Amino acid sequence: MSDLPAPHHVDAPFLKIENITVRRNRTNVLKDVNLTIRRGEFVGMVGPNGGGKSTLVQTILGLLKCQSGRVSILGQAPLSKGVFGKVAWVSQAAAHLPKNVRLTVRELVSLGLLSHTNWFLPVLSSSHKVSEAIQLVGLEDCIDMDVNRLSGGQRQRAIIAKALASEAEFLLLDEPLVGMDRASRSSLLKLLDGFCHDQNKTILMISHDVAAMRQTAHRLVYLEETIRFDGPPPNFPSLEELASLRGIEDVHGGHHYDHAAEHCGGGEHPSPQSVWPTKEEE
Ligand SMILES: Nc1ncnc2c1ncn2[C@@H]1O[C@H](COP(=O)(O)OP(=O)(O)OP(=O)(O)O)[C@@H](O)[C@H]1O
Ligand SMILES: [Mg+2]
Repeated sequence: MSDLPAPHHVDAPFLKIENITVRRNRTNVLKDVNLTIRRGEFVGMVGPNGGGKSTLVQTILGLLKCQSGRVSILGQAPLSKGVFGKVAWVSQAAAHLPKNVRLTVRELVSLGLLSHTNWFLPVLSSSHKVSEAIQLVGLEDCIDMDVNRLSGGQRQRAIIAKALASEAEFLLLDEPLVGMDRASRSSLLKLLDGFCHDQNKTILMISHDVAAMRQTAHRLVYLEETIRFDGPPPNFPSLEELASLRGIEDVHGGHHYDHAAEHCGGGEHPSPQSVWPTKEEE
């Protein structure tokens, strides 16, 4: 029997990354990366700046080639016909829309349908998908507003609604929380969790907000050139364990004052968020 999972088999992994190496500027950015994501899973990915998270996303999309190993989505190569329309990508720069583009929320979200628009589909059915997606992200009151007038968080929601309107089954979200206030972050995370549970969507979300990821994702992955942790959020390594995973020596010989633990309210399992700079801190 072949090792290849049959496409669309219920138990087949949605995404399978096998031992990939990706080079950029003649350096290995990703090395021996292995990752399997099943349908309905919400996987959070964290790691330092330059650790290769966005590179991995671009490799999953088929925009970057692997030097070795392979990526398969539902058992097929990233750019194959069977994968088309099944993956939606919200890029790190997605919320930075050019100021001179004038689009209402409804128009922006409608662009999500373009990738697989069937010109014979009744207009009503498409506009229903658009309104539903806008409603899901809670922007119904802004539907006819110019996207340039939205707050950072609202704009990010509009971009996510665009991905939802496309009816993709797999959402790849690269730092969607940047620029969002705490309330918007919480409701977006709740919404995404609901997509996995209620609609069986599969999510891979990159974020520097480890605390938020620990509370929402079903599984956490730590990527720095290779995957150094992959497991349930409660098992995510402590600051010290993480430093040791990254090969960072304790310059204080173990006698330092743990500012991070204090900042996070102490506890047995301090958030490792301060191990690498956040986007906001940069
Ligand atoms: N377009 C590019 N051309 C060449 N090298 C690149 C390019 N984009 C990124 N790199 C390099 O690839 C490495 C990984 O970058 P990547 O953007 O994947 O990291 P990241 O984990 O997403 O970081 P961040 O948290 O800052 O978004 C870095 O060393 C970076 O300099
Ligand atoms: Mg990135």
